[in-house]
Amino acid sequence: MLETIERLKQEISTTELNSAEAAEEFRLHYLSKKGSISMMFEAFKSFEGDQKRLLGKPLNELKQLAQEKWNEAKDLQNGAATSSKKEDLTLQGFPFSKGSRHPLSIVKNEIVDIFSRMGFTVSEGPEIEDDFHNFTALNFPQEHPARDMQDTFFIESNPDILLRTHTSTVQVRVLENSQPPIRTISPGRVFRNEAISARAHCIFHQVEAMYVDKGVSFADLKQTLLSFAREMFGEKTEIRLRPSYFPFTEPSAEVDISCSVCGGEGCNICKYTGWVEIMGCGMFDPNVLKNCGIDPEVYSGFAMGMGIERITMLKYQIKDLRLFFQNDLRFIQQFSTGW
Ligand code: DAH
Repeated sequence: MLETIERLKQEISTTELNSAEAAEEFRLHYLSKKGSISMMFEAFKSFEGDQKRLLGKPLNELKQLAQEKWNEAKDLQNGAATSSKKEDLTLQGFPFSKGSRHPLSIVKNEIVDIFSRMGFTVSEGPEIEDDFHNFTALNFPQEHPARDMQDTFFIESNPDILLRTHTSTVQVRVLENSQPPIRTISPGRVFRNEAISARAHCIFHQVEAMYVDKGVSFADLKQTLLSFAREMFGEKTEIRLRPSYFPFTEPSAEVDISCSVCGGEGCNICKYTGWVEIMGCGMFDPNVLKNCGIDPEVYSGFAMGMGIERITMLKYQIKDLRLFFQNDLRFIQQFSTGW
């Protein structure tokens, strides 16, 4: 028996338990009730005293050896199992991509910023409007051809409801609900039924600005335009006003700035004229003030409206308006300098 014990000790020491199956097999073979070590203990019971004294210690050692071997294998496997579930904190993190502001938002915020510094507040209005706020109050009479200047999306079941074609609607809403002095700008989305091209889209953005008070003159309008243009496009920027027509302003003008790309020398951005158009403006037509409950005998004011896409295209020399709406990150991420 002593020999068997020695042989088993050898066997156990050299066994490698590197899988769960091997460990279980080992347990069954040596340590289970019917395993060889248990059987030896069974036999041990019937031995005489001398033999018991001789074999007791080695037999216990054998059992201990087998037990330790099995415990070790079990610990190893438990460790492996838990460590495969645990996160390895030393691994590199996933790259976390930071968002970036859309160029239109950047420029809108800049416009808001410039006008806020001149004392203008920000007002907003609904994108779904009625005929009164989009046209009638702004001095576009029914059947007036000026209504055709803006290809309108009407709601089929109710042609009185439409998607606003300009942010001048907010002028009406603000004037209806407040008394001068009023100095506010209204950025927002507008809609026109136009074919999509590099220069036009059916959805775009405008900012409207207006100032109504006693004694507001064309000189105030001109100085506000010049300050805005210089803040937006650089200190050397000059402005030029060309007579124009809008039903809600009289007189009306189209505003050009000296080309910020060539400085007025002539380039393909300004089509070699040295000037680029940035917005429409004018003095409030008295009818508009009247329509909104403001007395034109007491108050006067100016208004202006610009397309945010247009300003952004000029500022960043973007040639295709469709880029603003394609959500291509390679385009969008080029403009943000932070939040
Ligand atoms: N609402 C005009 C448009 O969308 C732009 C405009 C022109 C706004 C002159 C004004 C203005 O406030 O005075 O074409």
